[in-house]
Amino acid sequence: MRHLLDTKSLTKTDALRILDVAEDMADTQQREMKKLPTLRGRTVVNLFFEDSTRTRISFEAAAKRLSADVINFSAKGSSVSKGESLQDTAQTLQAMGADAVVIRHGASGAPRTLATSGWITAGVVNAGDGTHEHPTQALLDAYTIRKRRYAGDSRGRDLFGVHVTIVGDILHSRVARSNVWLLSTLGASVTLVAPPTLIPQDVSLWPARVEYDLDEAIAAGPDALMMLRIQLERMNAAYFPTEREYSRRWGLDAGRLRALRGDSIVMHPGPMNRGLEISAEAADSPRSTVLEQVTNGVSVRMAALYLLLAGAERDTDSTDATRKGDAR
Ligand code: NCD
Repeated sequence: MRHLLDTKSLTKTDALRILDVAEDMADTQQREMKKLPTLRGRTVVNLFFEDSTRTRISFEAAAKRLSADVINFSAKGSSVSKGESLQDTAQTLQAMGADAVVIRHGASGAPRTLATSGWITAGVVNAGDGTHEHPTQALLDAYTIRKRRYAGDSRGRDLFGVHVTIVGDILHSRVARSNVWLLSTLGASVTLVAPPTLIPQDVSLWPARVEYDLDEAIAAGPDALMMLRIQLERMNAAYFPTEREYSRRWGLDAGRLRALRGDSIVMHPGPMNRGLEISAEAADSPRSTVLEQVTNGVSVRMAALYLLLAGAERDTDSTDATRKGDAR
C-alpha cells in the first residue's frame, strides 16, 4: 500500500488486511511494553491544516508505538493561498526526509494532490479532507463493529448481514462518506437518516438507503447506530429551524435509546455535541462505543502506518510486526 487516501477505492482484500493487521497491533497493546521497534528511523509528519484532537493524537500515539520519529506540524492560520501553502509545505517536508505524511485539510482532494503532485516521495494518509473522506475513521468504526459482533478473534471476517444506520449531518460529513463506501465494500447494509436539507444531492449514487424519520429507523433494529456531529463550521446557511427542533427530531435522547434493540451499539466519531445530536444518557450508556472507538483508532492507525512504511519490506505474514516486537 503506497497511500491511504479514501475508502471508495479500497478493495475488500485491502480493507480486511488493514483490519486484520490492526488486530495484531491491538494484541501488542495489551502488553505492559507497548512499543514496537518496527518503524525505528522512519519519520512521520502530522500535517494538520484543520483542528483536531482525537485524530492527531491518535496518529501520534500510533507512530510512536511503532518507534517512528513524529513531527507535528499545525499549519492552521497560514496566510498563503491553500494550493501554494500546500506545495511549499510539502517541499519542506520532503527536504526534512519525511517517510509518511498524515494530512488533514479543509479542501476536499488535498491529500490526493499531495500524493500525486510529485512534490514528495512520502506515503500519504488522509486524516480528513473537507467534506470528502476520512478513511482511518471509517476503518476504526468497521473494526469496532466487527470486534463487537465477533467477540474474540474476528480476523478475516467481513460485515455481511450487519446493518448500520448513520444519523445526522450527512451532507458535511467525510466520516459518513468514508463509512458508506467501506461498510458496503465489507458487505454491511447502510441506512442514512437526516433532515432532507442535510442529505447530499448525489446520494442516489451511494450504496445506502435514505430515511427521514429517526424513530422508524430505530424501530428497524440496526446493529449499530452512528450519530454524527452537526458541523456548524461548514454551514453557511440555515439547514434546520433551531437546535432544539433538530434535537427533538434527529437527536438520540433517552427515549430513543430505550427503543433501540437491546444488543445494538451507539457510535459517535467525536467530538460530540452533548444535548444536540446525542444525549448524555446515550453517550455514557454501556452500549456506547465512543471510547472503544478511540482506543481502536490507535491500532488501526498503527496498521495503516505499518502497511505504508514497512509493508513492502516484509513478506505477507501480517503477524511479522508483532513477532519482531517479541524478539527484542
Ligand atoms: C470527525 C472529523 O473531523 O471529520 N472527527 C474525527 O475525526 N473524530 C467528525 C467531526 O468533526 O464531527
